[in-house]
Formats: sequence, C-alpha cells, structure tokens
Amino acid sequence: MNHTSIIGTGSYVPANIVSNATFEKIVDTSDEWIRTRTGIENRHISINENTSDLAYEASVRALDDARLSAERIDLIICATVTPDYFIPGVSQILQRRLGCDAITAFDINAACTGFIYALEIADKMLGSGDYENALVIGAETLSKFTDFSDRNTCVLFADAAGAMVLTRGEKQSIKKIVTHAWGDLEGFLRMETYPLKQDFLTVEDKRPFIRMNGREIFKFATRVLPETIRELLALTGYDLHDLDLIIAHQANKRIIDHAAKVLAFPPGKMYVNIDRYGNTSAASVPLAIDEAKREGRLAKGELFATVAFGAGLTWGGAIIEL
Ligand code: ACO
Repeated sequence: MNHTSIIGTGSYVPANIVSNATFEKIVDTSDEWIRTRTGIENRHISINENTSDLAYEASVRALDDARLSAERIDLIICATVTPDYFIPGVSQILQRRLGCDAITAFDINAACTGFIYALEIADKMLGSGDYENALVIGAETLSKFTDFSDRNTCVLFADAAGAMVLTRGEKQSIKKIVTHAWGDLEGFLRMETYPLKQDFLTVEDKRPFIRMNGREIFKFATRVLPETIRELLALTGYDLHDLDLIIAHQANKRIIDHAAKVLAFPPGKMYVNIDRYGNTSAASVPLAIDEAKREGRLAKGELFATVAFGAGLTWGGAIIEL
C-alpha cells in the first residue's frame, strides 16, 4: 500500500539559553512586557552551530526513534528560511553528513508554514510509490537575520530544528493536509535579501534583517488558525472533540489562547512550548510534535491537528494520527 506512516520524530536546540532579562539590557523592553504580550520566557540562540548542524542532530534523533538507518532514506526535504548558504541547500549537506546514497534532497521556503508544506510534498511523493522513506525537517537559525536593536522582533525569534521520518506503509498517518498562500506585497513580514545594484561597482554592506508589522501579522494569524482547523474538520468529517491535541505554530501564546476561545476547544489541549523556545519558524511545529510525544501528551493512535502560519503570507495544517 502507498500509505504514509510516521515512524519517528526528533528535535534539537542549541545549548545557549537567553532569558528575557538579556533583552532588558539591550533594548527598551521588560520581562513583564515580553511574558504578557507573547508568552515567551526563554529561547535558544545558537553560538557557532548553523542550520545544518541543528538539522543534523534532529535528524539523527528522528532516525534513531524510527530505528531506521540513514542508508534507507531516499528523500530529504528541509524547510528553512535561514540556510547555511543559498547553495548548497541544508538537505544536500545532510545527505552527505548522514551518509545517505545519492538520493533526492531539496530545501523549500514557506516561512513558518514550511514544515507543513514539506510534509505535504513528502506525503504525495511517498504516495506516488516511487519513494520508500522520507526525512522531513524544519530547521532555522533565525538569530542570523534578527536585528538585535529592534525590540519589535528581537525578543520573538530563535533557533531550533525538528525532524520526522515517514515511510510507505500500511497506515495513513496524515489524514488530511492543506496549504495556502496569499502574497504579502505590503511587506507585513519580510526578510530582505541583498539589494539590486544602483551602480554595479558600488559595494553595499546593508545586512538583511527580518522586519515585521506585528499588528497585521497578529490579525492574520488569529484569523487563519481557527479557520484552518475548521477547514480540516470539514474535509475529514472529524469532530473537534476527536482531536486529542492541537499543535499550533508557536508565534505568540495570545494567538493560541484566542484560537482555543473561538473554537471553544479546551485550552489544556492546545500545546504550548513558546515559553521555552520563542518563535522558531519552520522548526516550531516539528519541535512541538516531538516534545509532545516525549512528554506523553501524544501517544500512538492519538489524533491531533497541527496548524502553521507566517510570512509569505503562508498557512496550512494537517490532521495526523500517530
Ligand atoms: N517591548 C516593549 N514594547 C514593545 C516591544 C517590546 N519587545 N515590541 C513592541 N513594543 C511596543 C510597540 O512599539 C508599540 O508601542 P507604541 O504603541 O508606542 O507604538 C506597543 O508595544 C504595542 O505594539 P503592538 O504591535 O500593538 O503590540 P502587540 O500587543 O500586538 O504585540 C507582537 C506585538 C508580540 C509582535 C504581536 O503583534 C505578535 O505576536 N504579532 C504576530 C507575530 C507573528 O505571529 N509572527 C509569525 C510569523 S513569524 C514568521 O513567519 C518568520
């Protein structure tokens, strides 16, 4: 059968923990503001470990969890907006470091929704019957693109990686997956690249940073999170009460609380780890899934919904049975 079964998960965060108190020293903010407006208390910021290093550690743990050797993997997809290099991609670096054959390996960019997009691609590629075992990763070192003098963004973003191993098997773990995009021509959330040359001989040293209109992204996120859950339920025929857990992208605790309220879903069944990790973009969902599993919040056979949203604008979600 060409079904997609999830057989392993893993995650990794850099050792260096940065508390809100650090930001009180570098920008005009307070621990109280950050906690009450975002839910964040600590985050992990990489020192000398790049995105592929975090992705490698998460992948090793996921393969270990799946009891599968890297030689059996024939597809790697890495979702990231913060690769080590524009080229080669993180997935191609991983292919060599993990010791996989000369398999299919590519990166995708759908910002914070990247892992959901990568999961959809892997699900459909495994479903084609041409691939056997996929490694899907969300990994970021957002600290590379964070302006630590901008209080609107620097307190939010952080570094992490999460990975999942999927195999062509008997059971369809991914019940339904949806992805959407609506081009952000207004620039509500942008990570710039290098500017085009006015004069090609001029050396410009402008660094690309994340810039965000927090209010607009907040409005967008509070709309699409419950909307996507309702869309997934309508497409599958599941009831809200069938869900053992909702794992939303960890962008702001208030966005998660708002979704619980408008859906009338028990707040205790909304997974939250933003207090420890901040917003880790494409890594946020796979990190949360792996943690929820390891904490015993998700067991084999249980059903959960996951939803992500972010720059692009992009959003999407899935209903998954572990
Ligand atoms: N400390 C203190 N004050 C701050 C800080 C800070 N760190 N950041 C902003 N403020 C100030 C603002 O300057 C503003 O001051 P002003 O009124 O004098 O202009 C005031 O706080 C209120 O600003 P708001 O933007 O209205 O604050 P809000 O309560 O909305 O919280 C936040 C801001 C946390 C950014 C919120 O809007 C948010 O979470 N937005 C969504 C972010 C998100 O979900 N991103 C996801 C996608 S990420 C991705 O794809 C990579």
